[in-house]
Amino acid sequence: MLHNIAILTGGGDAPGLNAVIRAAVKTAKIQYGAHMLGIPDGYDGLVQHAEPWPLDVSEVAGLLYRGGTILGTSNRGDPFSYPVEKDGKIVKEDKSDDLIECLKELRIDALIVIGGDGSLAIANALFQKGINVVGVPKTIDNDLKATEVTFGFDTAITTATEALDKLHTTAESHHRAMVMEVMGRDAGWIALECGIAGGADVILIPEIPFSWDSIMKKIENRSKRGSKFSIIVVAEGAVPEGGEQVIQASADETHGLVRFGGIGHLVGEQIAKNLKMETRVTVLGHIQRGGKPSTFDRLLSTRFGVEAVHMVVRGEFGQMVALRGGKIIGVPLEEAVGQQKLVDPEGQMIKTAEAIGICVGR
Ligand code: F6P
Repeated sequence: MLHNIAILTGGGDAPGLNAVIRAAVKTAKIQYGAHMLGIPDGYDGLVQHAEPWPLDVSEVAGLLYRGGTILGTSNRGDPFSYPVEKDGKIVKEDKSDDLIECLKELRIDALIVIGGDGSLAIANALFQKGINVVGVPKTIDNDLKATEVTFGFDTAITTATEALDKLHTTAESHHRAMVMEVMGRDAGWIALECGIAGGADVILIPEIPFSWDSIMKKIENRSKRGSKFSIIVVAEGAVPEGGEQVIQASADETHGLVRFGGIGHLVGEQIAKNLKMETRVTVLGHIQRGGKPSTFDRLLSTRFGVEAVHMVVRGEFGQMVALRGGKIIGVPLEEAVGQQKLVDPEGQMIKTAEAIGICVGR
């Protein structure tokens, strides 16, 4: 009999996190009479023994359509390599036993972790140390192999597609090249799908190192045919052939993640220089991560939240929920983490783009 289930959100946020929390709290209470405790700020909340938040059905009212996460999140606090200050320096220490101690003090029977690759890898390591963990995958990048889709992705591409619609009208009026940089460090799903849906002329993704020549030719040909504007979508991790990814900030001691950004401006500069065309660059940034989840994401989040609690009650620990063939199933965290789902350069989605004349940089 489970009495106390804790839930936390880790890593970068994604629209739909609150909808998962809502569904999990409701299922725990209504179906099983279990108590749900919200852990603030991801794993940090457990390592630092932060006051948990008892979540009852009334607490989650109105959460379905709210972006972000009411629990807060952090992408810095890996408990197995936790940044602490010692003699004025940041050093990494294994704080996983502190976290386990906190779970014991709170009398937690099981922990639901909603997170991306990093947070789920930590969840798996905690499971190996004996903690009853169930994972829920999230990322706007949609780059986890174990699930067909992650929630947050649909909202992100909807936002990006709407932005492209807006750029289209102004690009056409001013006869400009409009470059839009979107998120996607290693996987180009956001760029590819919003680019196709938003009628882009060029789509550049990390999986296909691009040739400057092919971009210039595409834009030039459009001009020759009378289309005096062009729309170029660039994933932040896109890279020119023989070149390197453009980084805004290198990994710092506490964060540990390189911050991408700048490739959009580089592409814009090259188009302006080579084609003598007026060019403007828009970096969509965190707008892609914010706001209300789409209908699709609300549904997927709700289904994930419900099933995660069922899995906890059935004792299916060390697993995460996943969408496969339209059904929500459990897959071992072990298999699920560390496997990225990248765009196949010869796959159907790329072929679809190329069939309608979109240049993918080759
Ligand atoms: O993993 C999701 C993601 O949106 C990446 O595409 C992006 O590079 C990163 O998060 C940005 O993270 P931060 O919020 O730390 O800037």
